[in-house]
Amino acid sequence: MGMESKFIWMNGELVPFEKATLHFLTPALHYGAAVFEGIRAYNAAKGPAVFRLREHTERLFDSARVFGFREFPWTVDEIIAATKDTVRANGFKDCYIRPLLYLDGGGWNLNVDGGKPSLAIATWEWGNYLGEEALAKGIRANISSFTRHHPNVMMTKAKVSGNYANSFLAKTESVRLGFDEAILLDPQGYIAECTGENLFVVRGDKLFTPSTAPVLEGITRQSIFTIATDLGYQVIEQPVSRDQLYIADEVFVVGTAAECIGLSEIDFRTIGDGKTGPVTRKIQNVYHDAIRGKVAKYESWCDYVG
Ligand SMILES: Cc1ncc(COP(=O)(O)O)c(C=O)c1O
Repeated sequence: MGMESKFIWMNGELVPFEKATLHFLTPALHYGAAVFEGIRAYNAAKGPAVFRLREHTERLFDSARVFGFREFPWTVDEIIAATKDTVRANGFKDCYIRPLLYLDGGGWNLNVDGGKPSLAIATWEWGNYLGEEALAKGIRANISSFTRHHPNVMMTKAKVSGNYANSFLAKTESVRLGFDEAILLDPQGYIAECTGENLFVVRGDKLFTPSTAPVLEGITRQSIFTIATDLGYQVIEQPVSRDQLYIADEVFVVGTAAECIGLSEIDFRTIGDGKTGPVTRKIQNVYHDAIRGKVAKYESWCDYVG
């Protein structure tokens, strides 16, 4: 499976990988009643470091609050420490980290208060979500026939497991059509986000990205915003239409799992010259240095495992 590790942290204990199992009747499995994070650790300048760990952990708690959990048996600082313990115990240098806070011991009446929150943290060595060739060649995407969530139907600021049925629908359709990734429109018909990434458009020396109102507040998006602004680009948050992608100089997507990847083609239309463009490359290179603690002004983003 390629997701093996020595230990998975479960409710305060490091459990051997094979023993980290749940009962079939865990309500989270049946109804998607769980919230999660996707985090990466990198072998940085001074050893393994988790990228923007506090921001990810705070977003996990925010997701839980949005979903309706009211009481947590842990604090943000305890989960930060537990995440680092999990990476250290597994001896990984570059790895993906998956905390999942799930409804357990009740909740069959579809009431969050009927169960209690359990938390587990897994880690494994995982390559790029969009494939190993994505960085060199860029990827091909389509506009999905599935619309992204209406913000008053599913809570788009929360990484709720059940929300990802929408990503499954879009990604499966996209791959079956021969593309690498799906771009979803919001209920108004403007660009929302991809199945696991936010999106940026380059036109001249300006970058455009949809506002966060209908989409996830991506932590990579925020890092890229800072990097691009520091490089002298104007970054504008505004509604982006489908045809603005077709006539863009460059389009790229960003997320923890995918990092920063250029789009070579959308809906069978070549973007720019069909290669990852110079602005994307410049931003991508700084991002790759930043996640490995090589850029002094962004070093605070790296939380060393110790
Ligand atoms: C739907 C969606 N949008 C955007 C992102 C990018 O967010 P981040 O950069 O925080 O990983 C993700 C990944 O978590 C996601 O699942």
